[in-house]
Amino acid sequence: VVCAQVDQVIQVGHLLDVRTGNYQKNKAILVEEGRISAIVDADQAPKNVQLIDLSKHYVVPGLIDMHVHLTSDPQKHGYRGLVETPTREAIFGVSAAKATLKAGFTTVRNLGAAGFADVSLRDAIDDGEIQGPRMRVAANTICITGGHCDNNLLPHIYNSRSAGVANGPDEVRAKVRENIKYGADVIKFAATGGVLSKNTDVNASQYNFEEMKALIDEAHDRGRIVAAHAHGLQGIKRAIAAGVDSIEHGSFIDDEAIKLAKKHGTYLVMDVYVSDFILSEGEKAGILPESLAKEKKVGLLQRQNFEKAVKAGVKMAYGTDAGVYTHGLNGRQLAYMVQWGMTPLQAIQAATVNAGTLLNWKNEQGQQNVGVLEVGAYADLVAVPVDPLTQIKTLEQPAVVVKSGQPVF
Ligand code: ARG
Repeated sequence: VVCAQVDQVIQVGHLLDVRTGNYQKNKAILVEEGRISAIVDADQAPKNVQLIDLSKHYVVPGLIDMHVHLTSDPQKHGYRGLVETPTREAIFGVSAAKATLKAGFTTVRNLGAAGFADVSLRDAIDDGEIQGPRMRVAANTICITGGHCDNNLLPHIYNSRSAGVANGPDEVRAKVRENIKYGADVIKFAATGGVLSKNTDVNASQYNFEEMKALIDEAHDRGRIVAAHAHGLQGIKRAIAAGVDSIEHGSFIDDEAIKLAKKHGTYLVMDVYVSDFILSEGEKAGILPESLAKEKKVGLLQRQNFEKAVKAGVKMAYGTDAGVYTHGLNGRQLAYMVQWGMTPLQAIQAATVNAGTLLNWKNEQGQQNVGVLEVGAYADLVAVPVDPLTQIKTLEQPAVVVKSGQPVF
């Protein structure tokens, strides 16, 4: 193969095909303008081109975390967060983005940030001013008055409310439009109460069916996927029936809702690691006592229900809620997913091809941008010294991370 425009050649000892679980041996990935232009046998690669030698490594696609909050400082929970501004949070996000990328997560879906701080962070990364993963951002999480994502910490005299609050089908449609106007790539709404919000009930639904349907239809009309924060069963089912693309957390999902998710092709994004942080370090980090009490009712059940859902064969994508806990530890959840019923390959698929498919993010030729190492995709990858299919934890600290064909330092 003689290909005049190749910018880089990446020699790979073991290249994991995440669709099949098979390794291809001694390959060369050819990179043009940050994307994969061909994958050839190592000895067929053009010479005299910048070379990245991963011939001793195992290589998987760059990992994807579908649920992060890069602008959130995990040491500023509860009332400590009240002194934060979106500008300060954007600056915090600079180091969080770098830590996340170095951990091998070359793409993230950022599910909620105040003041469009996530849009600014994404743009600074895309403009090459700072280092970080590719970001697909949700901007303001859409929620009901007093619900999860509203600011419920202060009494009414302070007249404080989150920018994402919207009630009724017309208001939720308008909020979707506003998010998109100012840069959102994806939409997030809260379908039930949450653990970390004051005065919300994880079992209580937020929004009726009509509101959810209006929100989701509006987003889909504009080509945006929708993620629903949902712990409680009714909210999970309602959001699936209304056509949501992914259920976040999914803690109290049952057999019937699992069936419904399979029928609709809905992805589950279950953050089965974060409970450990909340219960061990949450109090020090400012998490409210009522939230710690809620977490005690959610954490274990969520893991058991995750195991059920895995057995039932529901589509799963990888999301951790990093930002609630320390940025850069995104890979820790892989081993938890294996502990709770996945094979290592399934856990890797959740964080690569499945996440990339859920993102529905394609190049001009209709090829998947991320989550696979195939022609047309960004040349984003992670290299480890041992076989991750036998030692999943090796992915917690990759030896080499490559984004757009360039090693990350
Ligand atoms: N942001 C989520 C919430 O407040 C965190 C839930 C974390 N707990 C869990 N077991 N996944 O609801």
